Amino acid sequence: MALVPYVENPLPILSKLNNSSANFRFANHDLHLAQDWKKLGVAAVVWDAAVVMCMYLEMGILEVKGRGVIELGAGTGLVGIVAALMGAKVTITDREPAMDFLSANVKANLPPDSLGSAVVSELTWGEGLERYPAGGFDLVLGADIVYLEDTFVPLLQTLEHLCSDATVVLLACKIRYKRDTNFLSMLKQRFRVEEVYYEKQRDIHVYKSWKLPPRTDL
Ligand SMILES: C[S@@+](CC[C@H](N)C(=O)[O-])C[C@H]1O[C@@H](n2cnc3c(N)ncnc32)[C@H](O)[C@@H]1O
Repeated sequence: MALVPYVENPLPILSKLNNSSANFRFANHDLHLAQDWKKLGVAAVVWDAAVVMCMYLEMGILEVKGRGVIELGAGTGLVGIVAALMGAKVTITDREPAMDFLSANVKANLPPDSLGSAVVSELTWGEGLERYPAGGFDLVLGADIVYLEDTFVPLLQTLEHLCSDATVVLLACKIRYKRDTNFLSMLKQRFRVEEVYYEKQRDIHVYKSWKLPPRTDL
């Protein structure tokens, strides 16, 4: 009888999720993000969309330094950490179960002089939005946060609450299913949406969007 060793995740793309850490160099810093897929699932691994978002931020097309930034669905916090290292004042958010892991990663990766630029805070989309200033951010960042259809309406509500007319939203998305494009259609009802970057190797789209002026013809 052939002996077939048990391989938990034979596909490289999946086995990477089981690594206990993921290492990057962004904003002139070596970053070591702890991962724990088994314990916390999607919130405790670095997704390709986060990596591509950081690459996009590093291109310098958008001014990040000195800006008020909020990251939604931050997971391990890579994007928020990089924004803080680039000189932004960042609120890094996710659901309650992800908080401890996220806080630990932020603390471990920001030098003492940047720690004051990042706050980790619980934000479940559509809930308790009054805790966050309406239209109070220059930039809203989200990497791989468009994937659960049930969250599309509260996610859109959250963006509407956080954005002023001048706020820019950057979403880095892996379009896995047709339903993911439904969110983009919903977003287009209230925001202008432009694809500003596509990273072919990881198949990640970066969309920039901002609030449309209210319709006056109704
Ligand atoms: C695929 S992970 C992406 C994590 C991280 N942005 C990255 O790209 O590495 C999706 C993230 O969205 C968060 N999330 C899912 N539903 C949420 C909700 N209703 N409110 C807030 N965050 C949510 C998850 O906890 C998770 O951290």
